[in-house]
Amino acid sequence: MIMRSGSIKWRTKAKLIVVNPDIINLRSILKIDLFFNMKHYHISDIDELDELFRSNLVNSCTGYKSANLLATISKGGRTNVAVFNSVTHIGSNPPMIGFILRPTTVPRNTYKNIRETGVFTVNHINKNMIEQAHQTAAKYDEKTSEFLETGLEEEYLHAFDAPYVKQSLIKMGCRYLNEYNIKENNTILVIASIEHLYFEEGIRMPDGWLRLEDANTVAINGLDGYALPELLDRFHYARPGKEIRSYFKKM
Ligand SMILES: Cc1cc2nc3c(=O)[nH]c(=O)nc-3n(C[C@H](O)[C@H](O)[C@H](O)COP(=O)(O)O)c2cc1C
Repeated sequence: MIMRSGSIKWRTKAKLIVVNPDIINLRSILKIDLFFNMKHYHISDIDELDELFRSNLVNSCTGYKSANLLATISKGGRTNVAVFNSVTHIGSNPPMIGFILRPTTVPRNTYKNIRETGVFTVNHINKNMIEQAHQTAAKYDEKTSEFLETGLEEEYLHAFDAPYVKQSLIKMGCRYLNEYNIKENNTILVIASIEHLYFEEGIRMPDGWLRLEDANTVAINGLDGYALPELLDRFHYARPGKEIRSYFKKM
């Protein structure tokens, strides 16, 4: 901040703002600074955007997403594996997950197989398989198995019908429970139970918490960025008026 002849000059990254000190205080300067540095889109601006630009912007603005491969098998025995970034926790008792399926205006083999067999697997993508995982998004026809095309390997565990991805270090065998049409954009929320859970023994902490960092599980930024998150800390249950306590840092 430079003070000169009674006025305040504020240099932001983009602009030099000159304001009269009689009508402002430091807080309002900061608000002005924020105003000039933050890009703002109103929904009317988003509506006007080029399709790809809008997709990139809106897919990344809600934060990092989970990175999973959903693997299935058709009634006729054809396997399929595809990347999904919308798998989310629904509840732990009973253990349930959900994922969002894009509109069924084009063939959706994962969904078709799930409806035929009632089962699928959810396999964490780790840092050693991001290229193969991303390639599964390509529009292969129903007769082509992405397992063969990408070099990801099928694995069958505990007589569960759907294949798991061998390279994946954390995986779940899931059974279809229900689905909800999201009428606003014709997507479907699929709900499933977790029937089987597999992970490398060493990544589970004594209280059941899985240290995803040790499995090199990645997160997805938008629809094409793969990131390796770094664990910063872990905290005890938060209670009003109680000081937050770290599991890792000695207080
Ligand atoms: C990073 C990424 C995340 C994706 N997430 C989803 C998703 O959550 N839901 C969905 O329906 N499609 C998603 N897709 C698209 C599917 O991977 C793609 O449509 C794939 O071809 C589906 O294959 P299938 O027809 O064999 O099921 C995603 C694609 C990418 C690249």
